[in-house]
Amino acid sequence: MTVPKLVAMKAAGQKISMLTAYDFPTAQLVDQAGIDVILVGDSLGTVVQGRANTLPVTLDEIIYHAEMVARAAERALVVADMPFPSFQLGKYRAIENAARVLKETLCHAVKIEGGEEQADVIEGLATAGIPVMAHIGLRPQKIHQLGGYSLQRNREQLLADARAVQDAGAFSVVLECLPAKLAAEVTGSIEIPTIGIGAGPGCDGQVLVLHDLLGLTPGRIPRHVKVYADLAKTINAAVTQYRDDVRSGTFPVAKKTSQ
Ligand code: KIV
Repeated sequence: MTVPKLVAMKAAGQKISMLTAYDFPTAQLVDQAGIDVILVGDSLGTVVQGRANTLPVTLDEIIYHAEMVARAAERALVVADMPFPSFQLGKYRAIENAARVLKETLCHAVKIEGGEEQADVIEGLATAGIPVMAHIGLRPQKIHQLGGYSLQRNREQLLADARAVQDAGAFSVVLECLPAKLAAEVTGSIEIPTIGIGAGPGCDGQVLVLHDLLGLTPGRIPRHVKVYADLAKTINAAVTQYRDDVRSGTFPVAKKTSQ
């Protein structure tokens, strides 16, 4: 997958599949399943590091995870999330930080949370040859300002954000937590693909956090998530069985042990 091929999928009416991954083995599985885009999201702060939100995630941590993911992916486009505040300090700092991501991880693109107010940064990154996926609607990096993870309904602002990031040179845009009708309207108003999360079926593609989809996220999961597997249960059963086998002496089996 390449950026131009991904952009062409919208015109061809092909839906884009995107999932997060944070390490080599899961990225390999996601890639082999034929997912179009792998996002090394700053959601790693919550689902991998066990933190309350994404704000503590550092650029070095994104680079650490993104390097493993990019090495594992043979087909998918790999996008690394720019963590707070790696792009909020202005265009030049953003280019410097995003260039580090591309050089040190071999990812293909970066994602930044921002609309109209980040147009200058997106334009700077695009001019430097760094493909940018924008992210509008609910922006988890603004959680304290927003006061919670709620549906974003400001129609005028969302349409302006989508237009601004496209005009600034973003190649696609994530729409997070928008009413389905509004997300469909935003999607129809721009030429670059929209990737929805909690934004209904009218987007050009969909993204989910891998741990949510696999049933590995402890505690509450967002309403928009479809849980496709209960891996927490599977892992618990396997580990409990191993513990019981060790306690009872059923494992290891004598003939399997090297003499
Ligand atoms: O960090 C992340 O995983 C994301 C997706 C939920 C879009 O931003």
